[in-house]
Amino acid sequence: MVSRVIPVEDFDLVVFGGTGDLARRKILPGLYRRFLAGQMTAECRIIGAARGELSDDDFRAMIAEAIAEFVPAERQDAEAIAGFLARLRYVAIDAKGDGGWGELKALMRRDVVCAFYFSVAPSLFGDIALRLKQFGIADDNARIVVEKPFGRDLASAKALNATLAQHFHESQIYRIDHYLGKETVQNLMAVRFANILFEPLWKSEYIDHVQITVAETVGVEGRGAYYDKSGAMRDMVQNHMMQLLCLIAMEPPYHFDPDAVRDEKLKVIRALDPVLPQDIVRGQYLAGNGQGGYVEHSENPQSRTESYVALKAHISNWRWKGTPFYLRTGKRLRARASEIAITFREPPHSIFDDATGWRENVLVIRLQPDEGMNMMVMIKEPGPGGMRLTQVPLDMTFADALGPEAEDVPDAYERLIMDVIRGNQTLFMRGDEVEAAWAWTDPIIAGWESRGDKPQGYDSGSSGPEDALMLMHRDGRRWRDIR
Ligand code: BG6
Repeated sequence: MVSRVIPVEDFDLVVFGGTGDLARRKILPGLYRRFLAGQMTAECRIIGAARGELSDDDFRAMIAEAIAEFVPAERQDAEAIAGFLARLRYVAIDAKGDGGWGELKALMRRDVVCAFYFSVAPSLFGDIALRLKQFGIADDNARIVVEKPFGRDLASAKALNATLAQHFHESQIYRIDHYLGKETVQNLMAVRFANILFEPLWKSEYIDHVQITVAETVGVEGRGAYYDKSGAMRDMVQNHMMQLLCLIAMEPPYHFDPDAVRDEKLKVIRALDPVLPQDIVRGQYLAGNGQGGYVEHSENPQSRTESYVALKAHISNWRWKGTPFYLRTGKRLRARASEIAITFREPPHSIFDDATGWRENVLVIRLQPDEGMNMMVMIKEPGPGGMRLTQVPLDMTFADALGPEAEDVPDAYERLIMDVIRGNQTLFMRGDEVEAAWAWTDPIIAGWESRGDKPQGYDSGSSGPEDALMLMHRDGRRWRDIR
């Protein structure tokens, strides 16, 4: 299979927070990879903007180091790196004052796509948006990209949306949820809507339950200050997990078009029932495996922040009434494994006398690692001795099915930034979607706070708190192993 790289239009991209962690780890290395792939024009310009006084060459040296650190060795091509670094500029900017904006304006071209990536604290969104307009740097065709966390509750998300709306139309605002840029996440839509096979079965009549797991082995090392104010509910569930749930549960959009897709996702979020206190478990990792526990990374030794959440969600609509969605995500778990597992119901009647080997059909969509799909189906156990059943996987690991090209897919950030330049908002969250997700999340967090709930401890390297196992056992079901 030969991958097709479709070049994007010429552009100027300003990265506010250009010397920050995200810019160094993801944004600039990702742009380099797209440059290497031949997707960017030779004239495009990437302008780092931050508080520090750096020259263009200082910034280039910083990004050269970032490429050396965060791009795999086999993708480090000296000529391409030099070509890419030549595209970089730097402006020292004062987000809350006048400094640097005139220089930035002078650097920007008028006749190309202009995009502004706000890789800064949300408290600066308003200041930057205002100055982009005041100094005549961004016009009605400009695009702005904002990062999560998009608010910390409904009120703050609404305030952020209102601030941005003072200066930009919704069609100019690209709210990033990097999970939507993951290859398999998009594949979910291809699998659902480009095959006739699944759709007739895609409802509560045939689906017993859905499990969505995002398990990480990392802890919150170095991010304690941010994470203490966030916790897994705000950091993962309100956004990444919610987006996965939406893509599984949504109705077919009439077209693969930004608003058609986002309208359908919004309907799912609005149909979510409030979560009952007994249907949610929060956990916090303890020391183990030679590593410290959460409180050692936190700024507060008494921290009640959760590093793990498991919950049961119900969607009240015709398609899903009666099919629970179990979600769990946590840090410092046994393995890094993200997957969606769709468990089908039993056939209505068994014609076999010996059904001992029978198991439910399960469709597993693996996000990472080893992206692919696996369908567990029943067959006859081979050999003589009567009709006995056994379960086998129909395995579609994308790397096996599609060859090496499948392993070289763009990282989520690369793809999403190129979508910004193309002007395609399909994989970005709309303001009303973000607000609806907070409206569902807020009462859960408020409930914990008012009851003074403490998270349950779980050992680092385990599969999570005991109560999370009980959440499934109570319903006669079990979580899939985290491997
Ligand atoms: C981020 C969260 O949005 O996603 C992190 O802030 C988390 O806490 C990360 O580790 C997970 O992303 P990925 O792509 O590594 O699964």
